[in-house]
Amino acid sequence: MRHIALITGAYGGLGRCFAAIHARYGGDLVLVGRKEALLASQCAALQKEYHIRAVYLVQDLARHEAADYIFSQCSTRYGDILYLINNAGFGGQGEFAARADIEDTQMMTVNMETPTRLCKLFLPGMIQRGKGNILNVSSIASRLPGPLQAVYFATKAYMTSFSNALWRETAHTGVGVTCLMPGILATGFTVRGHLERTALFAHGGAAPMEAAIAGYEGMRKGKRNVFCVHPKWLEYAIPYASLAPEKWLLDYVYEQQRNR
Ligand SMILES: NC(=O)c1ccc[n+]([C@@H]2O[C@H](COP(=O)([O-])OP(=O)(O)OC[C@H]3O[C@@H](n4cnc5c(N)ncnc54)[C@H](OP(=O)(O)O)[C@@H]3O)[C@@H](O)[C@H]2O)c1
Repeated sequence: MRHIALITGAYGGLGRCFAAIHARYGGDLVLVGRKEALLASQCAALQKEYHIRAVYLVQDLARHEAADYIFSQCSTRYGDILYLINNAGFGGQGEFAARADIEDTQMMTVNMETPTRLCKLFLPGMIQRGKGNILNVSSIASRLPGPLQAVYFATKAYMTSFSNALWRETAHTGVGVTCLMPGILATGFTVRGHLERTALFAHGGAAPMEAAIAGYEGMRKGKRNVFCVHPKWLEYAIPYASLAPEKWLLDYVYEQQRNR
């Protein structure tokens, strides 16, 4: 296989876009997800349309062993990974004290632990080859505290911090580490996170392709951060959110994420 992109959450809203963009460039794919039937049909469709090779690995990324399994399968069966796209993730609305422990624990594993471990396993080889890029899908939520999605916002704050630190550590190695921070997107994320009845998601969100193109192209250029938020001025305003009075900000996010 050649010019391989490994994409987690490959049949989700953003994941499908990343897979199609990479295939359009003529690159091969390793797609990771939990649902074999979806992965198999996605691979078949991509191979037919773009004349590339697409294979899949069935894996629940909430398993602590997931990253080791993916790395060992890639090393023994597919070869060097050119692009690692840590895309899988999910949120969940509700008071932290009332939410199911298992949901938040799995969220921390899928959103933080597994992508961190995938970086740990794939990055040394990329540095040795002086070639490769990682795209970590975070969120604009990483810039704010998130009452009523406390764990989700915190996992994304971790991902942005972690990704930016790796960007600096890999400077001058030929390897790039990019963090994508989209705003609200119209994907399966809304239903999975029980966010349909919140003001924040009332308008449905943007189609994911624009954010996927921005992230993918930003990754190829080795950018540190890529934002994709509507309206556009929010991209410039959100980094300064910490200058707003903290109590006002917490009240605002709480109201936006409250069920109507
Ligand atoms: N949508 C938004 O508003 C938004 C905004 C900013 C950032 N993001 C981020 O964008 C990324 C992609 O999300 P999306 O918007 O495309 O949502 P999505 O359509 O729900 O896609 C999420 C993908 O992650 C996979 N996933 C979740 N838990 C998994 C697990 N335990 N094991 C394996 N795969 C798992 C899902 O597969 P299953 O269907 O099998 O669970 C799905 O393929 C996420 O990291 C999300 O946090 C989303």
